Formats: sequence, C-alpha cells, structure tokens
Amino acid sequence: MYLAAGFAKLARVSGTDHFDDSTVCRLDTQRKLVEPCSIVIFGASGDLTARKLIPALYHLFKDKQLPTAFRIIGFARREKTDESFRAELRAALDQFSRTQPVAAAVWSEFAAHLVYCQGDLNDPAAYQKLEQRLTAFNDPALRHNLLFYLAISPSQFGVAVEQLHRAGLLPRHPTTGWQRIVVEKPFGHDLASAHTLNSELTQYADENQVFRIDHYLGKETVQNILMFRFSNSIFERLWNRESVDHIQITVSEKHAVGGRGGYYEEAGAMRDMVQNHMLQVLALVAMEPPVSLEAESIRDEKVKLLKSIRPLSADDVARQVVRGQYFAGVVDGQSQPGYRQEPKVNPNSNVETYVALKLFIDNWRWSGVPFYLRTGKTLPLGASEVRIQFRPTPNVLFAAACGAKLDPNALTLRLQPDEGISMRFNGKIPGTQVGVRPVRMHFSYDSEFGAYTPEAYERLLLEAMAGDATLFIRRDEVETAWTIVDSIRKGWEGKPLTNREFYAAGTWGPVAAEDLLAHSGHVWRDPQPIK
Ligand code: BG6
Repeated sequence: MYLAAGFAKLARVSGTDHFDDSTVCRLDTQRKLVEPCSIVIFGASGDLTARKLIPALYHLFKDKQLPTAFRIIGFARREKTDESFRAELRAALDQFSRTQPVAAAVWSEFAAHLVYCQGDLNDPAAYQKLEQRLTAFNDPALRHNLLFYLAISPSQFGVAVEQLHRAGLLPRHPTTGWQRIVVEKPFGHDLASAHTLNSELTQYADENQVFRIDHYLGKETVQNILMFRFSNSIFERLWNRESVDHIQITVSEKHAVGGRGGYYEEAGAMRDMVQNHMLQVLALVAMEPPVSLEAESIRDEKVKLLKSIRPLSADDVARQVVRGQYFAGVVDGQSQPGYRQEPKVNPNSNVETYVALKLFIDNWRWSGVPFYLRTGKTLPLGASEVRIQFRPTPNVLFAAACGAKLDPNALTLRLQPDEGISMRFNGKIPGTQVGVRPVRMHFSYDSEFGAYTPEAYERLLLEAMAGDATLFIRRDEVETAWTIVDSIRKGWEGKPLTNREFYAAGTWGPVAAEDLLAHSGHVWRDPQPIK
C-alpha cells in the first residue's frame, strides 16, 4: 500500500471551509503490519550504517513504529563486541540523528536490541555463526523473519546472497516466515552489469524478495506526486499535451564532489543521478494512472513510461544532451576548486558533474511535449523541483498587448528544501493604471503540517519490513533505465568535453545547456530560494 500518510479532506462546517481531523482519510489501515523480525546489516562498520540506517531505525523505535520484538545484527569483518558496536553507533547518532540531543533513555532501550556478528563475507563459517546468533534469540519470528540489508559494495552482493542461501538463511521459496534482501545503488554501471547483478541475485532469491532502494522514493514530496495527481480532479485533466508546453525537472546541488572523487570518476552525473533518482521522478510525474495502489500496478506504469521514452541515436545525443564539468569558482562565498583538482580525480577527466537532457515521451498523452531534465554539482542553490509549464494563452487580449512579457502559467512541485507546491498565474497589479504580472499561490508543507520531515530511510526500512515493494525498484525498471542511460553514454564515446560544456562552480551550468532550450524557444527556470 503506497500512501500510508494521512491527509486532510476539506470539510464544510457552518458555511466555512476548514480542515478537520475527523475528515482525514487514512490509508494505513490497508498496510501490512510489521511483524517481529531481525534486521541483519552487512557492512555494519560502513558509512551508510552510521549515517542513515541506525539513525533511521532509532527514530522508528522512538516513534514506536518497530515491532515489539526485533533485533538488529551488525555483520562486518572487524573484531567488535556488542558493547563496542553499540558505543560506536551511539557516537554516530550524536553526529547524524535528525533530532538532537539523542534521548538517553530511548537509546539505552534501543541499544539492547543491537548485536554484532564478526565475519568475512566469503567465509561459510561466518554464516553459520550468524545462524547460531539468530537461533539463540529463542524466538521463531526473530530466527525466520529476516531482512538482510546489503550496505556493501555491489561486487559483493553475489557472494553474500549465495552464502546466505547456502546457509539456509535465504530460501528461494520460504516455508517459514519471510526473508528479504535490500540492496543499494549503484545497481550496475550499465545494462549488461545490471543484468548480471540481477541474475546473481535472482539465482538465489526470488525477485519478490529483492528490494532495490532509490532513496528519492522515500521522500515525502516524491510520494506526494501521485497523491497530488490522482487524489485531485482539477490538475490531471491538464496533465497532457493539450495543456502542457513542456516540463522541467531540476535537481541542483550546491555541494561539490569532494571526497567522493574515486566513486564519481566511475559514475558521473548520468549514472549517479539520472539513471535512478531523476528517471524515477520523471516516471511518477508522467506515468498513466495505475489500476490500483498496489505495488505491481504502480511499478507496471512506471516501466511502461520509461519504455515510452524515445530512444536517442548518437546524433540525438549531440542535439539533446549536454554534459558539463565545473571548474574553480565560488559557491556561497567560499572558493571551490575545479572538479579536475578534486582528490582522486584524473586531472584530465571528462567525467560530467552536470547533465541536461531533452527527452520526448512517445505516448498518446505526451506526444511532442519536451521534458527537460538537469542536475549538477556546485550549482548556486541546492534544490529539487518539477515545473509544469503550461501553454501560453491565445494571442489575443492581454497576450496580444503584452507579447512575451505575459508569463505562461506554471505549477511547481518543490521536492526539497522548503517543500511545497506553487501555482503561478497572472493577476492585475492593483492601482489606477493597468498592469499585469505573475503572482503565486503557494502551499508549504511546513506551514500546513509543521516541520515533520522523516528521513527517506525511515520510510523505506519500514516498507521493506512490511514487505511492501511499492517504493522499491523492480528489475525491469532498473534495466529499462539503464537502456536509456547507455544510449546516451554511447553517444559520448570518444568525445571529450568541449569549451561550452565547462562551467564555473557557483553558476547554473554550462552555456550549452541554455542553448538546449533556446532552440525550442524555452528557458530554464531556476529554482528560487523561498524565504
Ligand atoms: C545520491 C548521490 O544518490 O543522491 C549523490 O550519489 C547525491 O551524489 C545524492 O548528492 C542526492 O540526494 P539528496 O537526498 O541529498 O537529494
């Protein structure tokens, strides 16, 4: 069940519209209960465990969302005791918890559920030891309901899954309880490697036991895209080629590649952001209504949409895709070295830290509507948004008088930060003179619901425990997304970056990205700081 969060329905009381708690429509009732279980984290000494997984589990515990009986087992190579493992995680929580200070009493209760199991991923004996620890909990649910979180390098997924299977911890057709694996991106580096990885996983686990994470799907605002589209009647009828001129999806980041140069040299913006997060957002924005809110219905529609993206030939890539790389500049008043000067980066690197694309979706709804996607590092503002740019009015009356100055209507879904939705339309400037200018109608999550911003991982871990795959990526989705990305990367082969593809850190990207839109008479609408 996709949309568990409640939302308020407009109630009419005594002639005034107001929001009344009794009218909240909750969909959680259809949600599967989270049964008692053990969560085994492979790569328990790593960054992801400390930064994301433990803070998320701690908050779920604090909010009483975890089952009454549960254990978290850290599995890694380093020697540690349960106590030293807990102490490390406690220190990490002080640094990374979204709520501070960490509540000492809650922590000590939570920490009692944390244990450590030392072992080498390649060593069958380590899995026997893991099995013994699970059995020693003396509770069939904790022994058999198992969530294996693979916070390890993708090159180790295969061996971990094979060993779990051989140790009897991951039967392909479970007879007692449930066993699932959660895997993190990067999920392959092209279609062929993703295919191999998928085959390795599904040799020992069934597809429905595999939960592939894209943390963007755990974000409230990304989940709200479907709710906004399909729980209202006024927007969806405009959501097509008749009314929409084009759509812009921007994921701009202020920060640089920094310490991740080694990884980034292999990835680049296309694999790091477009293959996963951006195509997922695009799919949710553009897909057809699913036949139900069940996971497979939603995932079917996303795949269908991804398959409708018009394939790009090498010539199309030259025309429709722009790469960029930052050189030294100033971001937020701080000087920022160029990408080629970052640690572990080849000083002649051609890896893109920015990418802008113009895509077409060849289906009935979107035929002829350009979708512009862009993402980059060291841009002036860290903000993600989807902008639906509507067609201009007919060229009579105000349009005839104002020409290009009459702003077309736009709807902006602000994904982060300052989460909200804005509608832009034209209004009369008050006064005796006649003037028109755009005005904005704005919904802000903060002012409507208060500053409740659970981390994406909280939601995703809970869904994985509940066995709901809606917010996870299915095998065919990953592979279809790679087909798109591969065709673009192929178009870049043997073509180094040109001068027009470099941009100074702290600017909105290369000049070539402006040209991409200018050819169709469009301009990028940069996200604005709100406040
Ligand atoms: C990650 C990428 O998947 O997403 C990072 O590897 C990127 O490069 C990050 O910065 C963006 O996530 P968010 O949640 O900060 O928008």
